[in-house]
Amino acid sequence: MELTADDFRALALALPDSVQGFHMGHVDFRVRGKIFASLDGAETEGNVKLEPGRRDALAQRFPGALHPHRGAWGVQGWTRLPLTAAPPALVNEALYASFRLVAPPKLTRGWPDTPTTPAVGFRVGRPDELPAVLALDEDASLTYEPFGLVVVLDREHPFSLDEERRWGADLQAGRLLLACIDGDDRAGFISFHLVDGAPYLDQLSVRRVHGRQGLGRRLLRRAQVWAAPHGALWLTTYAGLPFNEFFYAANGFQVVPESECGPGIRAILESQRAALPAPERRIAMRWRAPVPGTR
Ligand SMILES: CC(C)(COP(=O)(O)OP(=O)(O)OC[C@H]1O[C@@H](n2cnc3c(N)ncnc32)[C@H](O)[C@@H]1OP(=O)(O)O)[C@@H](O)C(=O)NCCC(=O)NCCS
Repeated sequence: MELTADDFRALALALPDSVQGFHMGHVDFRVRGKIFASLDGAETEGNVKLEPGRRDALAQRFPGALHPHRGAWGVQGWTRLPLTAAPPALVNEALYASFRLVAPPKLTRGWPDTPTTPAVGFRVGRPDELPAVLALDEDASLTYEPFGLVVVLDREHPFSLDEERRWGADLQAGRLLLACIDGDDRAGFISFHLVDGAPYLDQLSVRRVHGRQGLGRRLLRRAQVWAAPHGALWLTTYAGLPFNEFFYAANGFQVVPESECGPGIRAILESQRAALPAPERRIAMRWRAPVPGTR
């Protein structure tokens, strides 16, 4: 899989305390003010700083995928990673090594030599990614099967078409966020918009191969950050499932009786009950953002 500049950015920004900066016409990534990576002006090439031994070892494992800069920069360890040639595993490891080299030692004390956890990043989905998002969701929806809930709707079903229309609109509006993990730049997603004038999490899906690694929780956190200024985040889900009602309850959501839901949420529940299995188990939940200054 080829990485894009956005993937590189997401992996760099997933490192703790990493922030994006800008100098001499290109983007850089800094930790406590020191640059540990950058993208070139055309955003086709990443740059990292590597100790010579590490650079040689990576060059042996990934032949032709990394190149020392010429002159003094190269001597200092700066290394080019053309995005068309660098596999995600290399970029992940090189960013980690560069960060560890540049960051204040107390920030990385005890870190192992190579990354043990896959790097996670997020990026805004592009409108042309709708088919890939639908495929991702189709995979995620199989999570329900072991729990006796089999969704059998073809893509031409009005419920599916409506879903497609909403996610397409969220993609257009920049409100569909994709999670990237270990170079898979479509490991999961959230899509959100307003319903009854309040933030609504339309979908949260994680590809099964990446399940139970905390991606769902981190995506949900993103939706909560987006919703916080509005005071609340709504969603609809299945009661009684560990990765639905109980997962959301563990993240601060409460079930809302239907009589307290607005007309938009009630209409959503109605359309879900007409199309999905176990209609009686569809529920609405709400998270209330903490009010600043209170506990
Ligand atoms: C819900 C979903 C997004 C969770 O994604 P995830 O990346 O696996 O979530 P996390 O790793 O953050 O897991 C959070 C917790 O949910 C629970 N959980 C998640 N998947 C579970 C499963 N298959 N079985 C039991 N519990 C599960 C666990 O308590 C888990 O914590 P733990 O692994 O520390 O025990 C994913 O299962 C999914 O895409 N499901 C299909 C679509 C869906 O249900 N969407 C949400 C409903 S609207």
